[in-house]
Amino acid sequence: MSDNNSNKMWGGRFADGPDTIMQAINASIGFDQRLAKQDIEVSLAHVAMLGAQSIISPSDANAIKDGLGSILSEIEAGKFEFSEALEDIHMNIEARLKDIIGDPAGRLHTARSRNDQVATDFRLWVRDQLDAAQLAVKVLIEALLSQAEAGADWVMPGFTHLQSAQPVTWGHHMMAYVEMFGRDLDRLGDARQRMNQSPLGAAALAGTSFPVDRAMTAKALGFDAPCANSLDAVSDRDFALEFLSAASICAMHLSRLSEELVIWSSAQFRFVNISDRFSTGSSIMPQKKNPDAAELIRAKIGRIFGANVGLMIVMKGLPLTYSKDMQEDKEQVFDAADNLFLALAAMSGMVSDMQAIPENLKASAGCGFATATDLADWLVREQNMAFRDAHHVTGALVALAEKKSCDLQDLSLDDMKTVHPDIDESVYLVLGVENSVASRQSYGGTAPAQVRLQIVRWKEKLKL
Ligand code: ARG
Repeated sequence: MSDNNSNKMWGGRFADGPDTIMQAINASIGFDQRLAKQDIEVSLAHVAMLGAQSIISPSDANAIKDGLGSILSEIEAGKFEFSEALEDIHMNIEARLKDIIGDPAGRLHTARSRNDQVATDFRLWVRDQLDAAQLAVKVLIEALLSQAEAGADWVMPGFTHLQSAQPVTWGHHMMAYVEMFGRDLDRLGDARQRMNQSPLGAAALAGTSFPVDRAMTAKALGFDAPCANSLDAVSDRDFALEFLSAASICAMHLSRLSEELVIWSSAQFRFVNISDRFSTGSSIMPQKKNPDAAELIRAKIGRIFGANVGLMIVMKGLPLTYSKDMQEDKEQVFDAADNLFLALAAMSGMVSDMQAIPENLKASAGCGFATATDLADWLVREQNMAFRDAHHVTGALVALAEKKSCDLQDLSLDDMKTVHPDIDESVYLVLGVENSVASRQSYGGTAPAQVRLQIVRWKEKLKL
């Protein structure tokens, strides 16, 4: 051991300790303490294997195991003192182990390096997030399904370009988000499956000359197999990037729904009431009820995208294998995960509480000549017109209604006949918004019967 003030874990070749600025830039303990439990779990699996393979003695293995158990209790009780001088979580724990059990502690790091250690710790942490994110997305999907069920036949405007396009149903609109978050669920599951391999035993980069049993540690940590290439094992951060990209797409969906809630809850739209529990008031305008949760979700999503891009940039120029740049992988993933969970919880709460206002949805559904396509389809079906001609005739009827400042269904039959003489009474049947949606029975269409089929399919799929 050196008698100068060099680092006690790796300072053997150093005559001097680090500059305080060096320590500040180098230390990760401020954030990687979030990996403490995973670090201990990994060390427990490693030491059990070292013992089983007779790489260390049974008594050393036991002493290490007991010591790690005490450290875990200290951490859980909030009594562990993290030290910046000890740089990171791995060395903080190993140093404490030495305090508690003495010399056998020095054998824990046999046949491993912090490179495979951190890669394994971080994988375990990200794996937990992938599991928790799937649960959180499921909760949101359930809330959306309840909304869809309640309003499977409530008619509302469907938009393209945020212009009234064709009437749709509330249930259909909710189910569109079920599809989106359903894909998120699959993506998170895919990522989990792909990442579930253990880097432990890759050591610094080249593997180890000790007779380790990598399959044993992989199994103990719940991995499907050990990573097959030691260079890749220590330098791969795809698992974190896949989490961030799945999180980003999910966040994008959350942001789109937030945007709709902001629009729908405005005094001009009044499609929904957002509950008091998820709104705030204004300190100056007494009438205001602001959809702050939706706005904050919309904004927080930026951090998740930022983390995704940020980690891509950290990784993109790195030669194999480990570079210290990779220590910068954690903070942004932690922040992205925290914000994803907060956003999902807030959205689930808002969606469960939200009250659609069916009368307003319906009144708005007929605005903007939303049934013009139904009229054109009627001309094709009943008058045997080519669709292009029907489109033209309908356009002329829309222009007439616009001139008279009324809706299509308010035009008299005589007015209609001035545009096309063969139009008869039965045209009014397709001009009602309810008829319009009921007629869209194509698979995946907006007809309430179709929407109900999709609700049943999703409930079966999610075993609800
Ligand atoms: N704190 C480091 C990190 O998070 C641990 C790995 C250090 N490895 C090394 N070769 N310096 O990346």
